[in-house]
Amino acid sequence: MGTGGHSLSICKKLSSKGRLICLDRDPEAVKLSSKRLALQTIRVDVIQANYADLDVILKEKNIPKVDGVLLDLGMSTFQLEHSGRGFSFKADEPLDMRMNPYDRKTAFDLVNKKSQKEIAWILKNYGEEKRAKLIAGSIAQARRKQPIKTSLQLANIIAEVIPRTYSPRKRHPATKSFQALRIAINQELNNFQTFLAKIPLLMAQEGRLVILSYHSLEDRLGKKSMATWERPCTCPPDFPRCVCGKRPLFKRLFKKGIKAENKEIAENPKARSAILRAAERI
Ligand SMILES: C[S@@+](CC[C@H](N)C(=O)[O-])C[C@H]1O[C@@H](n2cnc3c(N)ncnc32)[C@H](O)[C@@H]1O
Repeated sequence: MGTGGHSLSICKKLSSKGRLICLDRDPEAVKLSSKRLALQTIRVDVIQANYADLDVILKEKNIPKVDGVLLDLGMSTFQLEHSGRGFSFKADEPLDMRMNPYDRKTAFDLVNKKSQKEIAWILKNYGEEKRAKLIAGSIAQARRKQPIKTSLQLANIIAEVIPRTYSPRKRHPATKSFQALRIAINQELNNFQTFLAKIPLLMAQEGRLVILSYHSLEDRLGKKSMATWERPCTCPPDFPRCVCGKRPLFKRLFKKGIKAENKEIAENPKARSAILRAAERI
């Protein structure tokens, strides 16, 4: 749900019988969007929840299946720029990065308490950061002198070992590390995988699933699931006919992920990294 931009647009398209269930794990998002969505004429449920628990939420609401799901992954502009939780390397904020402030572990805990090896693993696997070991080494060195308490402190430690010119498209050298820490703290890939395992059973015939992702780790997971749902047969290719009996669950609406056009990127630069994939339940 975030700050409710997509939700408002969906409300405008629904008939008077329509119902929209909006989820976000961030209580601030729930507060902001509840106000924004309050005046809608259709029924809107705004719920603070993890989308990986969609099955539980639908059961509580007595909704067996849904006709559409939009999953807009990652963090919101609000979280990045106004939450004060250290998601951005541009501001000097406490190193927190929890989308749900009731979760236990913060980015401070991870950066200051995990072993150098574990930090390198996180940076490599969740940030696809090629210089993961180098960065983890300099984090370990810096925290021996004093705890790393803020986002800017961490960004400067990373920038000191990685000159800006080495970053692709001259992005800030801490971009990938911040992504990695955020993913680790919020268990983003685990949640997405849990959701992908559950969603086929939660969607009505012809229901549409739309996934917006912002980096290749997420996009790969969505793409792989959609391809498997479309062709689930696990029989060896030389079998004359299918004996595994697995039937397609979804058909993809586009074979490739859709990217924003230049005009949209000019209006909304954050759309640059967005990839949209969509499939219809069959
Ligand atoms: C890109 S933003 C959504 C923006 C939204 N579409 C809008 O129009 O404002 C992603 C949102 O997903 C939320 N989020 C991330 N992981 C979540 C999870 N596992 N369960 C629920 N919400 C999650 C974040 O807190 C964030 O607000």
